[in-house]
Amino acid sequence: MADKPTKGLADVVAASTAVSDIDGKAGRLFYRGYDIHDLAGRATFEETAHLLQRGKLPNREELGAFGEELARGRELGALAAANIAEIAEKQKPMEALRSLVSLSAADDADRDSIAPDANLRKAARLTAQQPLLVAGYHAARTGGTPPEPNPELSIAGNFLLQVTGREPAAREVELFDTCLVLHADHTMNASTFAARVCAATLSDMHSAIVAAIGTLKGPLHGGANEQVMKTLESLSPDDVARSVREKLDAHEKIMGFGHRVYKTEDPRATHLRRMSQELAEASGDDTYYRMSKEMEEVVFETKGLYPNVDFYAATVYHYLGIPTDLFTPVFSISRMAGWTAHVIEQHADNRLIRPDSEYIGERDQKWKPIEER
Ligand code: CMC
Repeated sequence: MADKPTKGLADVVAASTAVSDIDGKAGRLFYRGYDIHDLAGRATFEETAHLLQRGKLPNREELGAFGEELARGRELGALAAANIAEIAEKQKPMEALRSLVSLSAADDADRDSIAPDANLRKAARLTAQQPLLVAGYHAARTGGTPPEPNPELSIAGNFLLQVTGREPAAREVELFDTCLVLHADHTMNASTFAARVCAATLSDMHSAIVAAIGTLKGPLHGGANEQVMKTLESLSPDDVARSVREKLDAHEKIMGFGHRVYKTEDPRATHLRRMSQELAEASGDDTYYRMSKEMEEVVFETKGLYPNVDFYAATVYHYLGIPTDLFTPVFSISRMAGWTAHVIEQHADNRLIRPDSEYIGERDQKWKPIEER
């Protein structure tokens, strides 16, 4: 007979990984041994993706070659391009992204291989392609095509350019790039686990990523950042504390707070709070930032909960001019670096992931023909 399950697999070690590590008590996060506080604001997203997928921070030459590989991967794929307009008409952003990544597999030269070199190439292509899919979707639903990517700009810069339609300021690109770095990996979070379960059947990288995107979409995971903005928009600036207390008294969850692993401040939230403040002040209207600070105080006083990565990310994206319903796709753009690294790791040392379950249903049922039921 199976043991009692741990609800939600809390504290269960589900895989060995060298990709990232969290110390939940101390509030620390490491990518391949590098503290996130050392990477944030210093490493670019491209360097971070190289670190996660290829195991090391690149030197100049390696970064140059990786940048060229990313640039070559910057295309939608024929099947995705042919369907993007109809998808934009019928699907919400995360549904669309799930569909488009699935369609893009059809045009990937390595679609049938899970060999290490093919996986590395696909990881780079998926990382380069996903921002284009999101920007292409956004342009299609507003009746156009996005501006051509600027070869001088990074992934972060081109995404801002393509989604907002204007050349972003250098500081905006720096801050958004840091957001992508901060969201790039996070040990055995739900979407990464989903990707690894899929990959462990020896299914291909695109299938694993589609599973991950579907998992990220939910409001308890990546979907929380969009919900944070909606909450802020629904509150009156001079009634934040009362409204939040009322929600908590009614046992409502406040999106963007709480975490399974961190027992103190999420180290990513520290950076995002600072960025939100900077952008709020630069925008000349810091209402949402001030409301966020007040929410943070009330939720901590009432429930002892800290903001997670999604809380201040919401206002950062808002101030950068990103539409609210693209916040979760932005999370996906970043987490692609980590998901693909985990798929590579899973395929390199694989065993089927197949846990047990505790049976709690009826036993010894007697068969009855349909007329007697
Ligand atoms: N607002 C109010 N109460 C909360 C919250 C919250 N955001 N988070 C946890 N709690 C309470 C919860 O009601 C429960 O109370 P009680 O023991 O009295 O029933 C207790 O804290 C434990 O919560 P839980 O849901 O059992 O904890 P968990 O470890 O299963 O869930 C979580 C972690 C992140 C899903 C949860 O904190 C939550 O739902 N937060 C809101 C959604 C959110 O912000 N998600 C983003 C997570 S971080 C980034 C990411 O992965 O995308």
